[in-house]
Amino acid sequence: MAASVQLNAKLLGPAFIVKPATKQFLKPARIRCAAAATAPPTKRYSITLLPGDGIGPEVIAVAKNVLKLAGSLEGIEFAFQEMPMGGSALDLVGVPLPEETLAAAKQSDAVLLGAIGGYKWDKNEKHLKPETGLLQIREGLKVFANLRPATVLPQLVDSSTLKKEVAEGVDLMVVRELTGGIYFGKPRGYGVTEHGEEIGFNTEVYAAYEVDRIARVAFETARKRHGKLCSVDKANVLEASMFWRKRITAIASEYPDVELSHMYVDNAAMQLIRNPKQFDTIVTNNIFGDILSDEASMITGSIGMLPSASLGESGPGLFEPIHGSAPDIAGQDKANPLATILSAAMLLKYGLGEEHAAKRIEKAVLDTLDKGLRTGDIYSAGTKLVGCQEMGEEVLKSVETQVPAAV
Ligand SMILES: NC(=O)c1ccc[n+]([C@@H]2O[C@H](COP(=O)([O-])OP(=O)(O)OC[C@H]3O[C@@H](n4cnc5c(N)ncnc54)[C@H](O)[C@@H]3O)[C@@H](O)[C@H]2O)c1
Repeated sequence: MAASVQLNAKLLGPAFIVKPATKQFLKPARIRCAAAATAPPTKRYSITLLPGDGIGPEVIAVAKNVLKLAGSLEGIEFAFQEMPMGGSALDLVGVPLPEETLAAAKQSDAVLLGAIGGYKWDKNEKHLKPETGLLQIREGLKVFANLRPATVLPQLVDSSTLKKEVAEGVDLMVVRELTGGIYFGKPRGYGVTEHGEEIGFNTEVYAAYEVDRIARVAFETARKRHGKLCSVDKANVLEASMFWRKRITAIASEYPDVELSHMYVDNAAMQLIRNPKQFDTIVTNNIFGDILSDEASMITGSIGMLPSASLGESGPGLFEPIHGSAPDIAGQDKANPLATILSAAMLLKYGLGEEHAAKRIEKAVLDTLDKGLRTGDIYSAGTKLVGCQEMGEEVLKSVETQVPAAV
């Protein structure tokens, strides 16, 4: 999948010898009578649900109901199939991603994942860790583009660690290349130089097709947003970045309506803190995207609010909150389900092209926050503390009471 390069000793500097790198409590949420407003289904999609571990089953149960209701109001019917993954799959069948789970995911229109992992499996060998299942499903679905929005909602602006005037109004999207670059490039491993010095090495390498396809996802994404794309690289130093910039610039000719700019990664890291509002959509390679998307998400200050989407060229996308399984609060009805609910909105928008249903969900989340309802992670004085289930029920109420004109 990832590109690799044939290197010779001259390219690498000192000569070296390469050694190869080596179901828990779920009260069904009450969906109120939406029958009057429900449109007869004209479209049907199959969704694979992967609840996973910890708070995963709690947030997925809530998001499923929201997806179902928002869909029904737009004439969409879903067939849900729940499959084991992560620690729960290890307990059930001894592997973190059973073949049946991957097969079901591949056959569906989209995949919604909760979270995986937990203390119980922390000491497992690498191939038997829940996290391995996550890498396997990304690889199995060939999802090479990771979309991570960072939006500072007006209701939560005080959760940001940045000054209010800097954080207010931030609404950006990081598009990260997910299956290439230095995390997968070869050669990689450990070796010894001709002077007997031990070394570790990796290779940053991108083939044209890898840059071109992520560029197209990014330009399309910018088009659906505010039409501005900033490509982040290190083209003043790295050949792989110079090549990245050349390909991104070439693909730009297919998108004359999108305004393209380029920025070096060190500057981008500073600008994200200094003036994040200047960004609309950012596209970058695997390693820079890993770092910048975490930095961008922290501008919002609340891990329980952040969704993500991973997309391939064809086939189902994978949609999941960016948080983990939060074993410290699992099973206590304390989890914030909004990141998963917003991941369901991304599933509708980027996975199925159902923008109206997606907007219904996004609006319902804002309405619920406007009412002052907060789970523990985003609670502040003067707001009302609710649990995962109640937050979900309030979002359902909001979805239900929207009139189509408001969407
Ligand atoms: N994509 C994934 O499934 C994923 C991502 C990250 C970590 N993990 C796994 O999750 C487990 C726990 O990892 P961690 O503690 O580093 O990260 P985490 O995201 O699970 O938790 C970090 C902190 O944030 C809180 N938190 C997270 N999500 C929340 C939510 N929705 N509502 C309220 N509070 C929330 C937790 O209670 C905890 O205090 C580990 O096994 C890790 O490998 C999985």
